[in-house]
Amino acid sequence: MCGIVGYIGDRECTPILIEGLRRLEYRGYDSAGVAVLEPDSAGTLATRVVRCRGKLGNLEKLLRDSPPTGRVGMGHTRWATHGRPSDENAHPHKHGSVSVVHNGIIENYLALRASLSARGHKFTSETDTEIIAHLVDDELKAGGGLREAVRRALAQVQGAYAIVVLSDAAPGSIIAAKNASPLVLGVGEGENFVASDVPAILAHTRQMMFLEEGEIAELTRGGIAICDLAGKAIQRIPRTIQWSSVMAEKAGYKHFMLKEIHEQDRAVTDTLRGRVSIEKADALLDGIELAPSEMKKLTLIACGTSWHAALVGKFLIEQIARIPVEVDLASEYRYRDPIIGPGDLLLAISQSGETADTLAAVKEARGKGATVMCIANVVDSSIPRACHHALYTHAGPEIGVASTKAFTTQLAALVLLAIHLGRRSGALDEARAATLIREFMAIPQKMADVFGHSPQIQVIARRYGKARDFLFLGRGNNYPIALEGALKLKEISYIHAEGYAAGEMKHGPIALIDEHMPVVVVCPKGPGYEKVMSNLAEVKARDGKIIAIATRGDSDIGAIADEVILIPDAPAPLLPLLTVLPLQLLAYHIADFKGTDIDQPRNLAKSVTVE
Ligand code: M6R
Repeated sequence: MCGIVGYIGDRECTPILIEGLRRLEYRGYDSAGVAVLEPDSAGTLATRVVRCRGKLGNLEKLLRDSPPTGRVGMGHTRWATHGRPSDENAHPHKHGSVSVVHNGIIENYLALRASLSARGHKFTSETDTEIIAHLVDDELKAGGGLREAVRRALAQVQGAYAIVVLSDAAPGSIIAAKNASPLVLGVGEGENFVASDVPAILAHTRQMMFLEEGEIAELTRGGIAICDLAGKAIQRIPRTIQWSSVMAEKAGYKHFMLKEIHEQDRAVTDTLRGRVSIEKADALLDGIELAPSEMKKLTLIACGTSWHAALVGKFLIEQIARIPVEVDLASEYRYRDPIIGPGDLLLAISQSGETADTLAAVKEARGKGATVMCIANVVDSSIPRACHHALYTHAGPEIGVASTKAFTTQLAALVLLAIHLGRRSGALDEARAATLIREFMAIPQKMADVFGHSPQIQVIARRYGKARDFLFLGRGNNYPIALEGALKLKEISYIHAEGYAAGEMKHGPIALIDEHMPVVVVCPKGPGYEKVMSNLAEVKARDGKIIAIATRGDSDIGAIADEVILIPDAPAPLLPLLTVLPLQLLAYHIADFKGTDIDQPRNLAKSVTVE
């Protein structure tokens, strides 16, 4: 998500930091900043922070006339999570002698902020990061040195973080710490580096060490010492990174899309972070409280992949909360003089938050007096700004034009919403909610498990990748997944594909089926399984080739399908989070096999800001 780079050595660090940030700009670009320990006329070091809203270019303009001079510093490019993009929310955050840059989400930041405020602390930003600067500064005053102060401060923090900390009260070192967000340490000669990603420091060293969960590193000019959160020393041997700079940007993956597919377990974890509680049997929506009893009508609108998420959302909300839901394409909705008004809730779903049709639909509904909420990925983009409430997915920047992690995090946000509404409508009792939340929290691990099928899917992709057309079938909440599988294949491989509700096949598309037609069927065990089996018998009787996405342990599917990709089992409402993954990988491997421009397919734009 955010990009981090830090340096300690004998060279002027500002150019090193800016060059490193340039290599990380794809991770975040709503604001940027640096903090450098700069000597004054007497030679005393003081931290100078320069930061501003906007792309890195804005920061470079600010630095042009008087760049900070100094040999210890850190920089940051931000992808907003807590707090909109602004000068005040840009990192580094400084309090007292302590400056911090951070990537991640502090789950208990509201509680920490309240307790710090009660002790007289004043805050200048809306971020969760600023509280870390306050905690570390307090601990530093208590003695023991900067590393110890960071260690004690982190003992109070819950959540995901990769942080780098420096202090003019301890100018001989910089401290880095990691939990659930990546950090890499670069080993140089008389100088050392830290970064969120390899590309930021690859120009300076190939000797690198990756920090593990719950580890803290102290970087000095002469070396790097690592310990755990209990203070126990850890030995780590640097390894030589062989990646080219282009490979490093994609973390070694061939395309951003493949990298983003493999990030989905982490991304969904971030969507859930701090928002579900098994003890309370509830889903919290960042302070948004929805009251189903006061909601006259609930309408979901979106475009493209986000519309497929909305279709799954209808199943989720209707099944879990027993509230009727209408779903519409934003591009249709806005031109229909929709019947909506006070007491109705319109939920817009958009990765970019900039899709022109979705934005116009939001304005139309708001203009007619409805309450308008969105599920979005890009904080403070146009759609969230036009809404009363925004629930962010925290997927991080999505570079590949074909949406992958944006989709699954939208699904996760919709599960949260369904649980929230279900608990308040009375349709979801405490015991069922706790069970569903427990299963929900197990989904990221199951997603990682599905990625293990990539080699098998690659073989299937080669076997069927020359087909002219594909059919995708699914029922219930896996019908939108069939639509999404077909869209992914069309977008990046340029193969014609159609998604259908399996029961609809006999009403027309069955005429297309012959021995040349691969039919991808999403048929996990659960509601509608037997019906899909009957549909598959119809395909088989016409010599169609069946590629099945089925549940592990299904002993019947192998008798009818030509290829079977097995996924872990999960409760029906959560299955789309797993069933879509093989379809993303299938589209990816077919496109890769064909050699198309996967990250920037022809004729498509990442964000469609025109009607
Ligand atoms: O940014 P949005 O979610 O509003 O974008 C909507 C569609 O343009 C988008 O999902 C598009 O269909 C993707 N290319 C799908 O992969």
